[in-house]
Amino acid sequence: MIPAPRVEGRYAVALVCLGNICRSPMADVVLQQRLQERLAGRDGVEVRSAGTGDWHVGHPMDERAAATLREHGYDPSRHRAQQVSPDWLDTFDLVLAMDESNLRDLGGRSDRVRLFRDFDPVGTGGEVPDPYYGGDEGFEEVLAMVERTADALVEELRDQ
Ligand code: 4NP
Repeated sequence: MIPAPRVEGRYAVALVCLGNICRSPMADVVLQQRLQERLAGRDGVEVRSAGTGDWHVGHPMDERAAATLREHGYDPSRHRAQQVSPDWLDTFDLVLAMDESNLRDLGGRSDRVRLFRDFDPVGTGGEVPDPYYGGDEGFEEVLAMVERTADALVEELRDQ
């Protein structure tokens, strides 16, 4: 179950990782694509992504993340990294962290601040591992988790 929207008729989801160039932008692109496909015409759901760190602000997605998305038919080109702003905690309906460390950096878990993979039907409550320092297979693994979890999240959002 996801918490009720703060404002009726709109639901805002934030996806947060460390750098906002790998995991949360991949989740952002996949979730937006799924929403387009499954909730066509419902523009009441807003999705944004950000990093807890500021090193990559303004940069496009990591080239390996972008390549993995393109190979699977998604368009990564519009992404530019941004840093999460503290007021997101008061404005978004749901803030989903990719790992426990992101969750701590956001100030900890609450009704509205949770792990993204709390919605993953496989390995519920796990972390999305940081692929930045690893090989290409890490990005494929992240995409598989993100696709599964986005599907489940769309089902929850459909009920709002
Ligand atoms: P992300 O991956 O949090 O999934 O975007 C990372 C990107 C950059 C760095 C670490 C993780 N970095 O240290 O610059």
